[in-house]
Amino acid sequence: MEIIDGKLIASKIKKELAAKSAEIIDRGDRAPHLVAVLVGEDAASQTYVSSKEKACKEVGFTSTVYRLETKTTEKQLLEIIDFLNNDDDVDGFIVQLPLPQHINVQNVIGRINPEKDVDGFHPVSLGRMMLGEPTYLPATPYGIMQLLERSNIQTSGKHCVVLGRSNIVGTPISVMLSRKANPGNCTVTVCHTGTKKLKEIAATADILIAAMGQPAFVTADMVKEGAVVIDVGIHRIEDTSEKGYHIVGDVKFDEVAPKCSYITPVPGGVGPMTIVSLLMNTFKAYNKSEK
Ligand code: GUN
Repeated sequence: MEIIDGKLIASKIKKELAAKSAEIIDRGDRAPHLVAVLVGEDAASQTYVSSKEKACKEVGFTSTVYRLETKTTEKQLLEIIDFLNNDDDVDGFIVQLPLPQHINVQNVIGRINPEKDVDGFHPVSLGRMMLGEPTYLPATPYGIMQLLERSNIQTSGKHCVVLGRSNIVGTPISVMLSRKANPGNCTVTVCHTGTKKLKEIAATADILIAAMGQPAFVTADMVKEGAVVIDVGIHRIEDTSEKGYHIVGDVKFDEVAPKCSYITPVPGGVGPMTIVSLLMNTFKAYNKSEK
């Protein structure tokens, strides 16, 4: 059994990006620039946005954060998006989700210029992904593809079972892994709350992607001997430790790991790859190579 070290792979990719960004700055050009728009006081969102700022600094990208009050109206937010769409010094930007309830998320995402949509959430970006055209891929599934590729895991002809059908992870990764590409060319089964015999189907997977958002859901009896298990879950479980909590994934790591050929740990697996994917998309946006 081999543990896929997402932290290590993410740090390698950051080094590659830092070298490219140093080259750009050395030749006198401006650095790639990512903007994050944060509306309101959601604690998790504040942490994510700070991590994105920190990651930009590490690779020499410029980062700007627009911190807006919870009472910001949809109209005001759309005006800021229009401004960012037209600002040539901004390569890509994201609007951190969730948004306050009075703002319509689809109106907001739909207003982003797809050429600057480094989150890959715009319907045009998702449509291009469906068609296999060059685009910005959503960060978490893009990170999973990087983990598979950089760990030299063979995917072609394999049966991949995806647990979960969210717009951000389950649905896009099922499309990416079924495409005629490497990684990809899998036979993909998507399981969700309407699936009968989910456990039996999971146990037939050569590659199992656990992205249903339920702590420690995947048990050893749901995993085939020699399977590759990718755990997308991140859950904070309160305990009596000094910290007061520990982090678990969607997989019961201790009992599942011995059966696997490869497995991602939580923390330190898929998580570190998500921000790195956003940086990769920002670099693409800088080069305008998505066109
Ligand atoms: N909230 C949780 N994950 C994400 C993400 O990847 N992008 C944005 N914009 N918001 C999020």
